[in-house]
Amino acid sequence: MRISVIGCGYLGAVHAASMAKLGHEVVGIDVDQNKIKELSAGTAPFFEPGLPELLSESLRSGRLTFSTDMEDAAGAQVHFLCVGTPQKKGEYAADLRYVDAAFTALTPYVQPGDVVAGKSTVPVGTAARLADELAETAPGAILAWNPEFLREGHAVADTLTPDRFVYGVPSGEASEAAVAALDEVYATPLSTGTPRQVVDYATAELVKTAANSFLATKISFINAMAEVCDAAGADVTALADAIGLDDRIGRKFLNAGVGFGGGCLPKDIRAFMARAGELGADQALTFLREVDAINMRRRSRVVEMTREICGGSLLGKRVTILGAAFKPDSDDVRDSPALSAAAQMQLQGATVTVTDPEALQNAKGRFPELGYEPVTEHAIQDAHALVLLTEWKEYRALDPVAVSSLVTEKNIIDGRNVLDPAAWREAGWTYRGMGRP
Ligand code: UGA
Repeated sequence: MRISVIGCGYLGAVHAASMAKLGHEVVGIDVDQNKIKELSAGTAPFFEPGLPELLSESLRSGRLTFSTDMEDAAGAQVHFLCVGTPQKKGEYAADLRYVDAAFTALTPYVQPGDVVAGKSTVPVGTAARLADELAETAPGAILAWNPEFLREGHAVADTLTPDRFVYGVPSGEASEAAVAALDEVYATPLSTGTPRQVVDYATAELVKTAANSFLATKISFINAMAEVCDAAGADVTALADAIGLDDRIGRKFLNAGVGFGGGCLPKDIRAFMARAGELGADQALTFLREVDAINMRRRSRVVEMTREICGGSLLGKRVTILGAAFKPDSDDVRDSPALSAAAQMQLQGATVTVTDPEALQNAKGRFPELGYEPVTEHAIQDAHALVLLTEWKEYRALDPVAVSSLVTEKNIIDGRNVLDPAAWREAGWTYRGMGRP
């Protein structure tokens, strides 16, 4: 099939390369010339495991090209909209300017019978509005909403072998054509039994926001338990293991720590609250405000704990932050809990050094005032406290005995509850986890 992918960020770049891998002829289009230059040369513009290999393979096959010219979308049978929907400045609502701009630029090249499939996370009601616009500007073309559930760090596998497909389609005859086109696109993963659900536009849009809201709620639930565990002297990690064994609850996404960040969960729950308000259903989502508040408290909590472990004040203390990305296997620092805590510590008088295997370049751009050091051992040198905030493999594997000789004081805060407290304490460290005695 001939496919166009509009927007080549985390979502679009991976989607374009994956669709070519599935055997389709794909053009990825983006307004950012540098990004297109890099992608055309087989370089991933961000860190994503497996993407460089997938890009080279797909480019070599001759089925994948990139362009800044929207005209190159002409001739594709399915056009995927993969642009970002960030939070609006000063408001909770999603900013749809990129979706609208991409859509308006694309429609002159859309032919009758083509399917325009939205993948971006949008407020419910957006697809219906765009379908009306499409009926005017490209009569005979069909709009579908096909939300994406990929996780950064696992984006390639999540795209090639997802848990499920959701198709939001119009009613009537057009629905069959939309389903047939998307089935052809995803023929390979569908052939292995991947479930797919065909629903209306609004349900498809809501599936995505509901899924992210549920994940955020699960994380904030366990972080609320961590607060109670702290007060009661209990261990939230053991608690999560025990409740997680009930398969109605499940152990995944029950890791307490500094909470969630990134370009999706925080802005998606806020946009969802804003949209529910517009629909007159704000009461239904007031709990998400609490989910957000619990999450934000984690960042202040880890700052407070660092102050405590440093003897009551951060003034003049050297603090090393292990990890800057919002999660491991990513160089994404958008709304990163690690950087937000690091900046607060610096404001309270600490000399903060941040280290991370992949995200330092992005971190510097956002928080130029913090200190950065790429080599872990150098970053740790002479610290009064180590604070692990992103659980990269290499930080989980730190040897408490070997690290002892580098620091000024043996204090460690495990902001992701991934270290072995006994091993660190045995090596003479003051260890503190989050919600662990
Ligand atoms: C999230 C969803 O998981 C994807 O399904 C969705 O497609 C994506 O948003 C999106 O909307 O595009 P992602 O932002 O890549 O994916 O990251 P997650 O793996 O969900 O992690 C989010 C945050 O939660 C991270 O900061 C992570 O450290 C934190 N987290 C996760 C916890 O604090 N505890 C946990 O138990 C799990």
